[in-house]
Amino acid sequence: MSNTKEVFKPNKKFAQNARIKNMCEYQALQDFATEDYEGFWGGYAKEKIDWIEPFTNVMDESNFPFVKWFEGGKLNVSAQCIDRHLDKRKNKAAIIFEGDRGDKQVITYLELYYNVNKFANLLKEDFGVKKGDRVVIYMPMIPEAAYAMLACARIGAIHSIVFGGFSAEALKDRIEDADAKIVITADGAFRKEKPYMLKPVVDAAIDEKSPVEKVLVIERNNEDVEWVAGRDYSYNELIKEKSAKCEAEVMDAEDPLFLLYTSGSTGKPKGVQHNQAGYILWAQMTMEWVFDVKENDTYWCTADVGWITGHTYIVYGPLAMGATTVMFEGVITYPDAGRPWKMVEEHRINQFYTAPTAIRVLHKMGEHEPANYDISSLKVLGTVGEPIDPPAWKWYYEEVGASKCAIVDTYWQTETGGHIVSPLPGATPIKPACATLSLPGIMGEILDPQTGERVEVGEKGYMCVTKPWPSMIRGVWGDEERFVKSYFGDVKKDGKAVYFTGDGAVYDEDGYITITGRTDDVINVSGHRMGTAEVEASIKKHPNVAEVAVVAKPHAIKGEGIFAYIVLKSDDGVADEVEEVKAINEVIKKEIGNIAICDDMVFVSGLPKTRSGKIMRRILRAIAKNEEITQDISTLEDPSIVKKIQNMVRK
Ligand code: WTA
Repeated sequence: MSNTKEVFKPNKKFAQNARIKNMCEYQALQDFATEDYEGFWGGYAKEKIDWIEPFTNVMDESNFPFVKWFEGGKLNVSAQCIDRHLDKRKNKAAIIFEGDRGDKQVITYLELYYNVNKFANLLKEDFGVKKGDRVVIYMPMIPEAAYAMLACARIGAIHSIVFGGFSAEALKDRIEDADAKIVITADGAFRKEKPYMLKPVVDAAIDEKSPVEKVLVIERNNEDVEWVAGRDYSYNELIKEKSAKCEAEVMDAEDPLFLLYTSGSTGKPKGVQHNQAGYILWAQMTMEWVFDVKENDTYWCTADVGWITGHTYIVYGPLAMGATTVMFEGVITYPDAGRPWKMVEEHRINQFYTAPTAIRVLHKMGEHEPANYDISSLKVLGTVGEPIDPPAWKWYYEEVGASKCAIVDTYWQTETGGHIVSPLPGATPIKPACATLSLPGIMGEILDPQTGERVEVGEKGYMCVTKPWPSMIRGVWGDEERFVKSYFGDVKKDGKAVYFTGDGAVYDEDGYITITGRTDDVINVSGHRMGTAEVEASIKKHPNVAEVAVVAKPHAIKGEGIFAYIVLKSDDGVADEVEEVKAINEVIKKEIGNIAICDDMVFVSGLPKTRSGKIMRRILRAIAKNEEITQDISTLEDPSIVKKIQNMVRK
């Protein structure tokens, strides 16, 4: 828990010009939302969104958890992000791109408008994409990834981005689940000055049974790739002919905008669905409140568009508010740990948003690097994706922020669409490694899962949101039951189901919220969310694996690492442990991708199971951490297995 004695007040000068200037203003907003929830949201929706037709109803929760926001309203998200800025900002930089090798590109709002329109026309005319069609995007961090997203939004297609680090198998599963006829990819891109490839992964993900009919390839690194005639098309060729004018499709407020697959506690990833108006409203409002980006500011979020942070806080949020957003293709520590600070200096970046893993690596590799650059332009520093530890927070605050920048520890998830708990940089006194308070409009509460009551100070409970909010997940693609069960099955308040995040949290005496991590079988490796069941299912594909259990183990840099306990089929032991580990990791790479490779793998003779066959993961977690086993193990089918496993691990 955070040390409540250490509190840092907002920078006075910054606060004077901030959108929310002090805690009274924060409280007034939160009181307004509490007293008149629909008035609060309806007012902001009217003010912030360029409606084609106004909405007639703010929120309909009569069919909870299937909730509708801003019904009757019609809009287009790409027009919200681009067209409406053209009067005032046509020559303002919308995207500043920096490539891995230092190549730079500035795309103004007017250029963005033309590029997105051309892209949208290409999808419509050459690929026959229509409103409601699913389009899978498997792309590196280049501006065309943003064009592709916005082009889909322009014509009402539903994009589903798959992170470029996922394997062909993982991509195939996601393509099939979404039944996508189109894939947009690139030949590859650059990493550490060397080309790497994506197109061959797409080729491997498409077989005869695949729903994919056409593949659009953006030529980025110009390496040789195979072309399947009649299926694969060059973006660089087709785009030349396209008209730069494409009417924005008129969308209903609750039409789907995108799917994004994320891990849950079962093997199959869930296609989290977000819809138009509620999502874009909260993306824009949180950009304005949490990063407090001003008209001339330059904002940089280091995430990848393959994750929700890249969706909401590289593309949709910044562009919806008319900001300048930086996109970076490369690796943050390449050529050295001064790279991000060099970029801050060169682009005069004002808001910098990254993950605790990156902060820990930059701290470790270049503790004093920030001092080698002029990074005085920085005003707000953000962190997201996993719990941050106080030493990393302190370094970020002191060395990067020169003890004058606010740190916004933003807590949220794929399912929440945007931040839900976070400091406001001009208002909230901050404490190291603490996400602080629910944002105005968000009814976040830490509840006791048994009683549904708010937990006492210092007592661990479940992080919940007790009222639907506009950017809340609208469904799990093709699986209504899973949607209801995954998020609204665990906690009831006053007899009514509430949204449960899957995270544990505690209050301190100021009512501040500290997130303690997942309560389910989800591991967070470097901010990448992975289900233990997903990793286990991939390991089981190795022919010699009989049983496997995967748990998280604390990791100094990555936050959490993956620890696998494996029972092999052949009982003559492991002939060559190193080879076996390599072979199993190869299977993981093929099934999921490099991001799921295990940090530790131990071969054991059995797993601790109850008599009904349930694996006791708590015991395995304790062994991985080298902790004492405090749990009663007499109920295990074979209690002696615990000692045996401990001996194998300590070996
Ligand atoms: C974790 C990423 C602590 C949490 C935006 C959540 C955090 C999961 C924080 C969502 C934070 C995210 N402090 N933990 N500031 N932000 N998390 O869906 O466990 O990739 O449930 O969304 O990351 O991961 P996701």
